[in-house]
Amino acid sequence: MRAKARAVPMLRTTRAAAVRAALRRWRAGGARIAYVPTMGAIHAGHVSLVRRARRTLGPGGRMVASIFVNPLQFGPHEDFRRYPRPLRRDRARLAGAGVDLLWEPRAADLYPSGHCTRVRVEGLSEVLEGARRPGHFEGVATVVAMLLNVVSPDDLWLGQKDAQQALLLERMCRDLGLPVRVRRGPTVRERDGLACSSRNAYLAGAERAQAVALSQGLAAARRALRDGARSAAALRRAVRGVWRGYPLVREDYVAVVDARTLDALATVPRGTPVLVAVAARVGKARLIDNFVWRPR
Ligand code: PAJ
Repeated sequence: MRAKARAVPMLRTTRAAAVRAALRRWRAGGARIAYVPTMGAIHAGHVSLVRRARRTLGPGGRMVASIFVNPLQFGPHEDFRRYPRPLRRDRARLAGAGVDLLWEPRAADLYPSGHCTRVRVEGLSEVLEGARRPGHFEGVATVVAMLLNVVSPDDLWLGQKDAQQALLLERMCRDLGLPVRVRRGPTVRERDGLACSSRNAYLAGAERAQAVALSQGLAAARRALRDGARSAAALRRAVRGVWRGYPLVREDYVAVVDARTLDALATVPRGTPVLVAVAARVGKARLIDNFVWRPR
């Protein structure tokens, strides 16, 4: 993740009005705009999203990113306070990945006292992560709607790592008629298969080694599918079989759902893309991972 020399330095602001002004200028010059919202603690997954967005834009396009640790999407007992905030390093990484404008909104500006409007995507908010983290997706949908209202990009880029979040935000944009194309980048992984995540920083030595159980469990489920398994129970068994070898990993869920609706599946139907999603606690970290199986 080496910072490349840039002809034009990255603009950086906390102010929505400054973001709007820069974008107005760029749009007047005919530029397409792509946007990657983040909560910072920038890692290879974020960088890959930015680079992919940049490539897709082509020359003349402009890349916008934001860093905002959104208090509204954290539960009262979650890690809002200790969420990593290595701001200087984040700025350097985003500049190196090709961001033209970095917006760092302040909580008091986004949520002045009396702010009470919430965006809720019914159904998709209530299962999987939503069932374990009440209010989480309302916080995500609300902040992303607000961020999009300022940036109004042509393309919004989201990671497959957070498959439910991506699906829900796609739906939100569609339902609210936002003129944005939502695109997904694939999950970026560490060498051993662990999905990159800002929360991996919470893993102590032995926990880090065992966190590989998530991707290995998923690999076992994928092998089972390739070998013809079609029942959700068999896929769950495949994951749990791997996890038995990792005593520091505590299951939160192993879910087999329709990738388009998140409806639970008992068996994998023909012609339906299936999302196999897992969540587990490893030490202080709560980790998620997934893959999508598309039957031919
Ligand atoms: P954050 O966790 O910082 O993630 C920002 C974006 O990076 C999300 O779209 C996420 O799916 C993507 N991402 C994270 N890890 C990835 C990986 N290993 N490979 C590819 N993409 C990855 O998700 C959020 O922030 C927030 O909920 C946000 C959308 C910014 C709203 O606050």
